[in-house]
Amino acid sequence: MTGVYVFDTAFAREDERLALGEALWDPGTRDRLRALGVGPGWRCLEVGAGRGSVAGWLAAQGAEVTAVDLDTDRFAAAGVPVHRVDVCRDPLPGGDYDLVHARLVVQHLADRRAAVREMAAALAPGGLLVLEDTDTTSLFSHADGAFHAEVKAAAYAVMVESGYHPRCGLLDVDLAVDAGLSVRAEGRAEVVRGGTPQARWFALWLEHLRPRLAGRVPEAAVDAAVLAFADPAHTWLTQVMVTVVGRKDTP
Ligand SMILES: C[S@@+](CC[C@H](N)C(=O)[O-])C[C@H]1O[C@@H](n2cnc3c(N)ncnc32)[C@H](O)[C@@H]1O
Repeated sequence: MTGVYVFDTAFAREDERLALGEALWDPGTRDRLRALGVGPGWRCLEVGAGRGSVAGWLAAQGAEVTAVDLDTDRFAAAGVPVHRVDVCRDPLPGGDYDLVHARLVVQHLADRRAAVREMAAALAPGGLLVLEDTDTTSLFSHADGAFHAEVKAAAYAVMVESGYHPRCGLLDVDLAVDAGLSVRAEGRAEVVRGGTPQARWFALWLEHLRPRLAGRVPEAAVDAAVLAFADPAHTWLTQVMVTVVGRKDTP
């Protein structure tokens, strides 16, 4: 169904999947936020916070942090207030933030343009909106290896049907410009070896989508793809994580 968050289910291993995603992407995110100078005195809003590793890290840098998510049950950053908010429908809590950060969130939203405008509106003059979303082109350039082409194509088709944008990292540049921000952007990719925790993030992605892959690809093909992610003989390049930094210029 379009517009319903594709991973918003009671998948028993969703907490583990989110934690593995944090392990994969947090080092690069922290480097980028550190380079922006985040520290004591900053007021930060973490949007679509998930388990809260980034929110917790920002708080550990001395920033004052507020977090929002559709589902706050998984949030585990001690001492950081979290609010149940649908960024496509509800107002964001507070305003005049020095930093609004959202990773792997905008790519799933039904009305991305309005949500990014809302996030930009929550910034103080001079504040920064940092959006991190993926561009999946690199995944589709792989020869089979760990990525069984038929399974990969079916899994992304399911996600796109739920409103996911496979090139949102690039789209974020336009969305941030449209929201009136001065923008710069860059991308990073990680190299993953089968059998590592990072590789398990990919395996749990397929396990999560498995019920919706039925009828699109044989179950045995999904089994084989999951097994391939556990095989140290395979290495692959992840999707490119694009970081867009948009500054709200002082009037
Ligand atoms: C892929 S997870 C990423 C979590 C976290 N940002 C990270 O990078 O570890 C996407 C998160 O966005 C949240 N989300 C999805 N749609 C949302 C919406 N409309 N409003 C608020 N949060 C949303 C989900 O509940 C989930 O926690």
